[in-house]
Amino acid sequence: MSVLVEANGLAVRTAAGEDIVSRVDLQIAHGEIVGVIGESGSGKSMTLKAIAGILPTGVVARGSIVYEGAELTHLGRSEYRRFRDRELGIVYQDPRAHVNPVHTVGDFLTEALRINRRLGRREAWARAVELAEEVGIADARAQLRAYPYQYSGGMLQRAVIAAALATEPRLILADEPTTALDVTRQAEVAALLRSQVRERQIGMMFITHDLELAAALCDRVYVMYRGRIVDAFVADRLADSEHPYTRALLRARPKLESGRRRLETIDDALRARIDEEVARA
Ligand SMILES: Nc1ncnc2c1ncn2[C@@H]1O[C@H](COP(=O)(O)OP(=O)(O)OP(=O)(O)O)[C@@H](O)[C@H]1O
Ligand SMILES: [Mg+2]
Repeated sequence: MSVLVEANGLAVRTAAGEDIVSRVDLQIAHGEIVGVIGESGSGKSMTLKAIAGILPTGVVARGSIVYEGAELTHLGRSEYRRFRDRELGIVYQDPRAHVNPVHTVGDFLTEALRINRRLGRREAWARAVELAEEVGIADARAQLRAYPYQYSGGMLQRAVIAAALATEPRLILADEPTTALDVTRQAEVAALLRSQVRERQIGMMFITHDLELAAALCDRVYVMYRGRIVDAFVADRLADSEHPYTRALLRARPKLESGRRRLETIDDALRARIDEEVARA
């Protein structure tokens, strides 16, 4: 598989001069699903935002991000926007935060098609219906006339995924796209993303707190800790990882029946050991 996007020595620095991400080397090949896991605050979202060129004001990326042979960190604002519009589909945790509540879901879906694909109203609508059907929105024609508040979280996330796919991107960046959904919907939305990405043979970066989900969904997984990538493995070799942090995450894994699965139970002694190890690496 050839490389689609590659970060080398990527750092993300705040206005105060603090590196919230550092020395990140990461690759996503064409058609590959790459998981990024790690605790809250470990730098997952900042890494994604650096790739997408959407870091908060005052926060800057250093190092190299190469997409299809082209260096992204040199792009100006409008060039980066054009790159995003053409090449990326971004899916976030909370679909409601990313759709305009006063427009119909159909408007939301046709917008990208009309602007970025320059489709006329009729064409865009027909394509939106197709896309909605592809992502499993039943009775798409009628559903597209409804407003976001009339959708369940899971259905709205499907619509957001459809919008992300509308412009036929080659890379999907998904930042905990299933975390806000209930457990059954989580599995469905994860499966949907996987099948769409596989069908289209495009790449995906999938951020999650859920080690098991990452292992089940992805081809390879990176583990982040305090802004660094501390471990990387082929997904079905998760159990073989010898990294103390990954092993700790595996042990800390909450039981399924406890509902929400977040990684927050690493004890202090272990944390001190991992800090030492990361500092040495
Ligand atoms: N605008 C900002 N300026 C400075 N630091 C920030 C800013 N936004 C986030 N941070 C810090 O950057 C670090 C990494 O944040 P990031 O959002 O990437 O974590 P994350 O791994 O995505 O966590 P979560 O799982 O909670 O989403 C955190 O310590 C956070 O406090
Ligand atoms: Mg995050």
